[in-house]
Amino acid sequence: MQRHLITSAIPYINGIKHLGNLVGSQLPADLYARFQRARGNEVLFLCATDEHGTPAELAAAKAGKPVAEYCAEMHAVQADLARGFRLSFDHFGRSSSPQNHALTQHFAGRLAEADLIREVSERQVYSHADGRFLPDRYIEGTCPNCGYDRARGDQCENCTKQLDPTDLIDPRSAISGSTDLEVRETKHLYLRQSALKDDLDAWIDTKTDWPVLTTSIAKKWLHDGDGLQDRGITRDLDWGIPVRRGDADWPGMEGKVFYVWFDAPIEYIACAGEWADAQGGADWERWWRTDKGADDVRYTQFMGKDNVPFHTLSFPATILGSGEPWKMVDHLKSFNYLNYDGGQFSTSQGRGVFMDQALELLPADYWRWWLLSNCPETSDSEFTWTLFQQGVNKDLADVLGNFVSRVTKFCRSKFGETVPSGGEFGAAETALIAELDTRIAAYTKHMDNMDVRKSAQELRAIWVAGNEYLQTAAPWSTIKENEAQAAMQIRVGLNLIALYATLSAPFLPDTAETLRETLNISETSWPENASDALQSLDAGHAFAVPDNLFDKITDEARAAWEVQFAGSR
Ligand code: MF3
Ligand code: ZN
Repeated sequence: MQRHLITSAIPYINGIKHLGNLVGSQLPADLYARFQRARGNEVLFLCATDEHGTPAELAAAKAGKPVAEYCAEMHAVQADLARGFRLSFDHFGRSSSPQNHALTQHFAGRLAEADLIREVSERQVYSHADGRFLPDRYIEGTCPNCGYDRARGDQCENCTKQLDPTDLIDPRSAISGSTDLEVRETKHLYLRQSALKDDLDAWIDTKTDWPVLTTSIAKKWLHDGDGLQDRGITRDLDWGIPVRRGDADWPGMEGKVFYVWFDAPIEYIACAGEWADAQGGADWERWWRTDKGADDVRYTQFMGKDNVPFHTLSFPATILGSGEPWKMVDHLKSFNYLNYDGGQFSTSQGRGVFMDQALELLPADYWRWWLLSNCPETSDSEFTWTLFQQGVNKDLADVLGNFVSRVTKFCRSKFGETVPSGGEFGAAETALIAELDTRIAAYTKHMDNMDVRKSAQELRAIWVAGNEYLQTAAPWSTIKENEAQAAMQIRVGLNLIALYATLSAPFLPDTAETLRETLNISETSWPENASDALQSLDAGHAFAVPDNLFDKITDEARAAWEVQFAGSR
């Protein structure tokens, strides 16, 4: 038995995620976690909400709520949607957890002891009325370039000129509107990533099985220009993890918090602690400490391509710099972007389909199938309502749903609702078994390699093989000449449904459950060989005919959704 630690990039707290976010990390991570569990392996699958930083503060302010309250509410909303999509996290944590506070401060303390942190003096705008330093985008004023009077401290939205807050004419606080501002010296902590460059380089060289895309991004940041830059890891915000050195105060850092990208990946570890506490004290260190049993864990991370530098350099720098035996990532699976109908999905513009809306339209399995079988794996991919309609209607309704319906209904009308007996396998069955053996092996290999699209293609081909068998065997004709042979053919059909329940479960967990209930079977194990799999249901075993598994998406529904989702939410 293998042990798999699996994490998905932790979604920002500031709103409900769209389908592009979902397919870029959480959904494929769930596919892999479900597959590894089905193979009998031990899995710890973790995700959380990423709750700190300016976007969280701004979203809370927009919602008119204290940020802690906003985050607690949005965490519950995201957790609920994750359950709706059947994301099988062992724990869905929060980067604001006490566990992450302690661990983030611990790492900062270790890095300081290793002399990997330096203090840097910077000039920043302080607001007397707000009693705080203002990050660039919290300052507004008139653009010196075009005169637009609501330009932000980092950029003018009107003429796109990049700005410094000190460039603005009549600057004011975006929080209170106050103009009582002053430029002050303030100190920040920088992580000396440059000192870790050789260690990181050597570590990445050991990752010979990583995709070139991943290693080339890491190598570029390591070697291009001046090489790996030191990175500011503190911010002047109220909401976040207070800057401390382990348990001790950090003189000069009062009122400051760690930068969100410093504490967010540490939540991958802290989340295991949250999981353990929720279990009433499970051993989480055997997943994360190589000195405590984690050396035989295989750790896989899932993320969108924009997250790759943080996972190949920044987070590894934190871990290596700590000098402690933490488990480091073994495999890193990254995704391109899913576009929406000729443009981009956008949270800020409310463009596209969001997780809550999707579940209001159709059950989770429809979305899971389409998104995974069309995921942006080797290049960006595109969601359109027409493509979605085609995928659902062809693959789910015409191929899988239709097969299940024909086999169960035919059996009920000719033999009743029990698996019929009689007949022997012949040439057609031998050929089917051979094809299935080849395809199941390929499917298993693709799933193991996290080749998501290839896996979906192979699974579809396995469904198609059943349909073709049924079409050729034609039990509705056979029964006129040879009832025993027709019974055998239908028995094969019913066993194929059982096989489909097992193989499809990582993609279609609810459908698999329905099929198992229909066939009156409990959890099945991953097939060893097709011959045994096709003889797992004995003659006389009772089953029921399921309701229609998948409704087709009509042209009217598609057209209505196109209109409904054309604007912004
Ligand atoms: N919240 C980030 C995003 O949605 C991902 C953070 S992943 C972690 O892009 F490594 F920081 F945990
Ligand atoms: Zn301007």
